[in-house]
Amino acid sequence: MIKCINESCFNSPKYIQKESVDLFFCDPPYFISGGKNKNLDLSSGSRKDWDRQWSSKKDFYDWTHEWMRLMHDQLKLNGSAYICICWEHSGNFKKILEDIGFNIKNRITWKRDKGRGSSTNWKSMHEDVWFVTKSKDYVFNVNEVMVEKKLLLHIGMKKVILKTGS
Ligand SMILES: C[S@@+](CC[C@H](N)C(=O)[O-])C[C@H]1O[C@@H](n2cnc3c(N)ncnc32)[C@H](O)[C@@H]1O
Repeated sequence: MIKCINESCFNSPKYIQKESVDLFFCDPPYFISGGKNKNLDLSSGSRKDWDRQWSSKKDFYDWTHEWMRLMHDQLKLNGSAYICICWEHSGNFKKILEDIGFNIKNRITWKRDKGRGSSTNWKSMHEDVWFVTKSKDYVFNVNEVMVEKKLLLHIGMKKVILKTGS
């Protein structure tokens, strides 16, 4: 059964017990729409509102630290989490995740072409997705994520094609 809870993640302890979650996938606000919106209306669903909850980067990182700490509490010992973030905040997100005690397993590059280009900067073409675990003993279903690829090897005068995964 799928249960959808449409509430602030800070209310999640009402619904989610400690060490009960196998996997989190988080696509949080990126704080890229500018400063605090004085007429904040989180229920409107407008990006301008939910991405402008903070007056400074420090406020944003403190807020991020708080939900990541909750996530750490709620994750099973063998669980894992994926956290999306743009390049501007990616380094600080890694630091916060490490400070809380997550093991950083990988930084996945999500190739993503969105928005228009700029005449004064390179266009952003990717986002980061941090893959983290709570302990060294975690579930990773490698067979579910294998992607077949061909490897062309030259051995002596022979061409050998190997099929490999990951
Ligand atoms: C980058 S968007 C993610 C969009 C989502 N992946 C989608 O496809 O709709 C960030 C989301 O975080 C939500 N958000 C902001 N503050 C939140 C909070 N305290 N608890 C839970 N979600 C929140 C916003 O409403 C927004 O939908």
